[in-house]
Amino acid sequence: MTHTTKVLLKDDEMPRQWYNLAADIPGGLQPPLGPDGNPIGPEALAPVFPMNLIEQEVSTERWIDIPDEVLQIYSRWRSTPLHRAHALEQKLGTPARIYYKNESVSPAGSHKPNTAVAQAWYNKQFGINRLVTETGAGQWGSALAHATALLGMECKVFMVRISFDQKPFRALMMQAWGATCVPSPSEETAAGRRILAETPETSGSLGIAISEAVESAVSDTSGRTRYSLGSVLNHVMLHQTIIGLEAKKQLALFGETEPDVVIGCVGGGSNFAGLSFPFVHDKINGRDIEILAVEPVSCPTMTRTPFGYDHGDTAGMTPLLAMHSLGHDFIPPPIHAGGLRYHGVAPLISQAILDGLVTPRAMQQTECYEAAVTFARTEGIIVAPETSHAVAAAIQEAHKAREENSEKCIIFNLSGHGLMDLAGYDKYFNGELTNYPLPQEEIDRSIETISGFPKPNPN
Ligand SMILES: Cc1ncc(COP(=O)(O)O)c(C=O)c1O
Repeated sequence: MTHTTKVLLKDDEMPRQWYNLAADIPGGLQPPLGPDGNPIGPEALAPVFPMNLIEQEVSTERWIDIPDEVLQIYSRWRSTPLHRAHALEQKLGTPARIYYKNESVSPAGSHKPNTAVAQAWYNKQFGINRLVTETGAGQWGSALAHATALLGMECKVFMVRISFDQKPFRALMMQAWGATCVPSPSEETAAGRRILAETPETSGSLGIAISEAVESAVSDTSGRTRYSLGSVLNHVMLHQTIIGLEAKKQLALFGETEPDVVIGCVGGGSNFAGLSFPFVHDKINGRDIEILAVEPVSCPTMTRTPFGYDHGDTAGMTPLLAMHSLGHDFIPPPIHAGGLRYHGVAPLISQAILDGLVTPRAMQQTECYEAAVTFARTEGIIVAPETSHAVAAAIQEAHKAREENSEKCIIFNLSGHGLMDLAGYDKYFNGELTNYPLPQEEIDRSIETISGFPKPNPN
């Protein structure tokens, strides 16, 4: 093993296809259901998404070509570096080799542009010139604003109020890229007005913001506006697999054959899926890899809820999706990991958990910030609060490797930088952050609200 610290791919070494786990997932995928409880066809989604993305959403092709123009735009910042965390390893005194895929080098500062560019491109091909979306921490909204700017399209973003108040700079980034950003719930939609009337002081949630964005998109009668979602759906997971496909080539250049542990944090699941699904493919084909999906204890979707059908948004405008869910009315406590505050999780990840391919783990936020600070003071990168969950799990695994004296290869996804999220670090330094494991009664109460929905057929 050399002392290489980072590996990049040349443009002509870039992956040219995305990997679609839907082709291989052993238990198969449960169909999305309409309001009558019956499976919906692609036409039902047509007012919301362009048909070319709907085709990707339902595709079971294993490999899907990345369009040339999308590859061209990716190449402005991709490949992203795969780093070996020598300094962190030394600090932890671990025999493990720790690698991280640095998605924070994109112009928007996270992995989100991988799907934002692809979605904007497919919409444009379909004759759409305006996209509407929601954003939690602001990462997704700024990524879509960036993508639409590059492709000459308009963009409107509903941003969860707590993040809008805590992170004004993200809204300014969106403005710099020509998008309009409003706090959610807003007075602009029926869903927003209803929620404001009931709870004027609400901190908002991703589910509410999704309802507003979908309503706003489908009520535009010009026919040239569509909605865009930054996580959860199959086509979003697909676009993000560029991360893991690059990482596989880069690990080989480091002299590694296969990682022992693959780690990502999970909100809706896209950065985790992006890094891990190409390795899930290897696991399905017999490789022994531990694949860890990390969430906050305050929003424990994967670790503490049953698999069932639920809406992707609060107002129930989206179809019912088969996933682990805290219930679409769930308002997470206002912890700082804004992007991990989603009530559900990608159906593909839920199924991979049921199939025993992915192991969920919940982390306390103070342990995550502690890990983020250790990382900043060794590797030098200040990670996003969401990403700190992956860092904390990687450190746990490195400690375990030390106890077992095992030279494991660990890779995690550094999904974004935290330079717009320093308010959370400030609270951590001032000792103002507490851990908030969600009480069981709260989970039970929330899950009860979706107990009447259809149940998935076990495969
Ligand atoms: C940096 C970063 N990481 C992770 C996430 C979580 O989203 P996902 O689970 O879709 O990757 C977000 C969401 O906003 C984010 O901004």
